[in-house]
Amino acid sequence: MSIRHFLTLNDLSRDELRGLIQRGIALKAKHKAGEIFEPLKNKVLGMIFEKSSTRTRVSFEAGMVQFGGQAIFLSSKDTQLGRGEPIEDSARVLSRMVDAVMIRTFEHDIIERFTAHSLVPVINALTNEFHPCQLLADMQTYFEHRGDITRKRVAWVGDGNNMCHSYINAAKQYDFQLSIASPKGYLPDATILAAGNGHASLVDSAQEAMKNADLVVTDVWASMGQEEEQAAREKAFADYQVTADLMAHANSDALFMHCLPAHRGEEVAADVIDGQQSVVWDEAENRLHSQKALLEFLVR
Ligand code: CP
Ligand code: NVA
Repeated sequence: MSIRHFLTLNDLSRDELRGLIQRGIALKAKHKAGEIFEPLKNKVLGMIFEKSSTRTRVSFEAGMVQFGGQAIFLSSKDTQLGRGEPIEDSARVLSRMVDAVMIRTFEHDIIERFTAHSLVPVINALTNEFHPCQLLADMQTYFEHRGDITRKRVAWVGDGNNMCHSYINAAKQYDFQLSIASPKGYLPDATILAAGNGHASLVDSAQEAMKNADLVVTDVWASMGQEEEQAAREKAFADYQVTADLMAHANSDALFMHCLPAHRGEEVAADVIDGQQSVVWDEAENRLHSQKALLEFLVR
């Protein structure tokens, strides 16, 4: 069978993605019951990080250990990648030694070039354009709290960034309706939006996105690599903070999600992220369980 990769949500079928939600829930239950389950015994995951991470690193590393395997943390600062070794050569070498590779990097093209030369499954752990692993956790979290997300309404408020793009992919793959409110100049990529096939659309204001929303999602105004744009972005996004007043425009049982790390007082008010409707801690925990389901699917 040919190797499968996970660079975007479009690399898996709708059925496979739904299967991962159920498997993530089952693996979570096993783990909570203290059951030892080691389907990846002696397997090794290489983890290339060109950007910072807390959740992604710890969830993949803990997941591999729980599965009986090992993960190797490879910072580009400490490997030859950071000294200019071509990504293609790194792929050729690493994929002869490990059983899967996870990469967090800048341009999406970098992970595509790695994948083209990899002998083992490659997982996108965030690029400038996409963050598909986060969506596995978000979808599992929605399912656990509210059941199937099919035909539900999701509001995206804020930057048309990597998370927004993965939400657009998710809208098509999991069959929900996404309303995106982003300021001019910070809209999602038009091609990615068009590929959402009618499942995602732009609206004119954060309030409008909230209409009948079952789930409200936001993310930082300045992503990793955009730190010097912080001041300009704070101005541009001033009307895009998810406040309790804004949440009041959504359905009364709407959930709030944020991939984290969050900046309270910028993209989200403290009383929302720390409030009743927020499920951000379950969402963060589910990175572990949903990625274990992914690793089992790709590597086993
Ligand atoms: N949400 C997320 O990917 O978090 P980290 O940057 O901490 O990995
Ligand atoms: N959009 C954010 C997500 C962090 C997990 C970033 O790329 O920095």
